[in-house]
Amino acid sequence: MLPFTVSPNPNWLYLTPSLRSTLDLTRQMIEDQQGLGFILGDVGMGKSTVLRFLHAEYSSQEENFATTLVTLANYPSPFAFLRKICGDFGQPAKRSLAAQQEAFEPFLVEQYQAGRTVIVFIDEGQLMSDHVLEVLRGLLNFETHELKLIQLVVAAQMDLRDRLLMKRNKAIKSRIFAPCHIRPLSAEETAGMITFRCQRAGVPNPFDMRGMERVYDLTQGVPRAIVIICAHAYRRARKAGLEYVPLDFIEEAAQTTSLPEPDADVPVPAEMANA
Ligand SMILES: Nc1ncnc2c1ncn2[C@@H]1O[C@H](COP(=O)(O)OP(=O)(O)OP(=O)(O)O)[C@@H](O)[C@H]1O
Ligand SMILES: [Mg+2]
Repeated sequence: MLPFTVSPNPNWLYLTPSLRSTLDLTRQMIEDQQGLGFILGDVGMGKSTVLRFLHAEYSSQEENFATTLVTLANYPSPFAFLRKICGDFGQPAKRSLAAQQEAFEPFLVEQYQAGRTVIVFIDEGQLMSDHVLEVLRGLLNFETHELKLIQLVVAAQMDLRDRLLMKRNKAIKSRIFAPCHIRPLSAEETAGMITFRCQRAGVPNPFDMRGMERVYDLTQGVPRAIVIICAHAYRRARKAGLEYVPLDFIEEAAQTTSLPEPDADVPVPAEMANA
């Protein structure tokens, strides 16, 4: 097994103290049935992996939880989005958004009475339009005096945070019980993550301390960047028949994985120059 691959496989997740807090806060939200949690973070920070980690945890407890994972939230309309969620729970499609919403409530009540918590995990939440966000608010109106009948966990890039801060999205923002923010790893955590992934893959860690520090400098602790640089450097070492990764292979990997700079003599297209 290769220790460095870019898929969001939850088995590869190295749990830092801050990720443990994210998991705990989200679990508290789900188990106390408080309705809405967000896992926010910049690109490549581990949101999809954390979401899948939680999904795997709850979907393995079928007796107590009914779950679904929406991997891409870019639905063209609120109706299409709700129909997808209902369909995942075996509910038939209806003719309109209102009919779909109305038909969903008895299912949620039935699950509640059976002692089962319904959870929807939504990835790429920044792709939801404001209209689709409104569906979340509609779903959170299904509630008893004490709790919400459906739990929503949304992973999204930071632009969604910025949108939630706008006045027009005040209603949904005010319903967030668990807002979590995934930040870059520290230098120690970067080394911990590299070591952990090697252990998981059953291979000795080929990076020494200086190498791991260099990976941290080059990536500033962004997990996807760490994985990509390590993958290239590790592959190069294996090809050279080495059991360790020399520093210059790490530099080379950083060069290989950086996008080429635009040539100075080629004019930059106007739309890029203005970006
Ligand atoms: N804490 C971690 N431990 C180990 N690997 C991690 C960790 N966090 C992220 N990764 C790895 O980094 C890569 C990117 O993670 P992921 O796809 O979850 O990021 P993302 O935040 O969803 O990115 P995007 O915003 O582009 O969707 C994956 O290969 C994942 O396994
Ligand atoms: Mg993702």
